[in-house]
Amino acid sequence: KRCILIGVPVQEGTGRLGCDMGPSAFRAAGIVPALADLGFEVVDRGNVLPGASSVITHPNPVLKHLGAVAAWTEMLADTAYQVSGEGLPIFLGGDHSLSAGTMTGMSRRASREGRDLFVLWLDSHPDLHTLDSTTSGNLHGVPMAYATGQPGFAGFFPPLPHPVRPENVCMIGLRSVDPAEGMRLREGGFEVHDMRAIDENGIVSLIAGFLRRVTAANGMLHVSLDVDFLDPGIAPGVGTTVPGGATFREAHLAMEMLHDSGLVRSLDLVELNPFLDERGRTAILMVDLAASLMGRRVLDRPTRSF
Ligand code: ARG
Ligand code: MN
Ligand code: MN
Ligand code: MN
Repeated sequence: KRCILIGVPVQEGTGRLGCDMGPSAFRAAGIVPALADLGFEVVDRGNVLPGASSVITHPNPVLKHLGAVAAWTEMLADTAYQVSGEGLPIFLGGDHSLSAGTMTGMSRRASREGRDLFVLWLDSHPDLHTLDSTTSGNLHGVPMAYATGQPGFAGFFPPLPHPVRPENVCMIGLRSVDPAEGMRLREGGFEVHDMRAIDENGIVSLIAGFLRRVTAANGMLHVSLDVDFLDPGIAPGVGTTVPGGATFREAHLAMEMLHDSGLVRSLDLVELNPFLDERGRTAILMVDLAASLMGRRVLDRPTRSF
């Protein structure tokens, strides 16, 4: 059992500075001992950096740092592919634009093993803008569109040999969806659950339903956890807080179920902004959630199956 930590200090995808300190905050909050206590061999690869970025021009004038985010994406796709052959990668963000690279690399890994990549996307946002539809220009709003092969990325982002099938993506926690993203979601394909779905059904049935699908397909599962999935009252350390998020107990329960499934092959922990945090509490919560996902539990109990 080996997990490999990759620090990804990207912040060019957000509108504000501070996410570059995310990897340090995860380490200061004790992610290495938390995982080691669970019996893992923990390899911390330190922080990675992208190759040199070129200036890329695009007809949408609001786009910010397109060249830099494209360079991160290209590097992270290779890193995710390689590292996932050696252990379970945990990507310490960094803003959510990093998932453009990690999903792409994991999708290549799945295809190499003759399997399909599934993605559990825990976020208040679908991050489903294309380069043409974003109005903020913040590229942390586009990774899901890129990774699922939506049009308009060719020539700007790296080529995408193994797009993720929208049917293999489950989004939970949505409560901030822009009009263009809503149109794309209405076209169908994606499994999507907003906060109302959590309130009405409970997070257990939503997660269990998706995990059953992954199991039935013998899929490989990537989990992408955005800090703003959580309620801002428990997780203030993020640039895009949206009220009415997941509770402490819902989030831990989701993580515990993911552990029981045995399906998770890779994890993104993204959007932590230590500059906005309060004495590290958001970083510590994210580390505790990662530990639950990796097997920390209160009492021994039979593993739940799906
Ligand atoms: N949809 C908004 C935008 O495109 C917010 C995106 C927030 N994304 C994130 N990863 N926090 O600007
Ligand atoms: Mn996000
Ligand atoms: Mn978000
Ligand atoms: Mn954000």
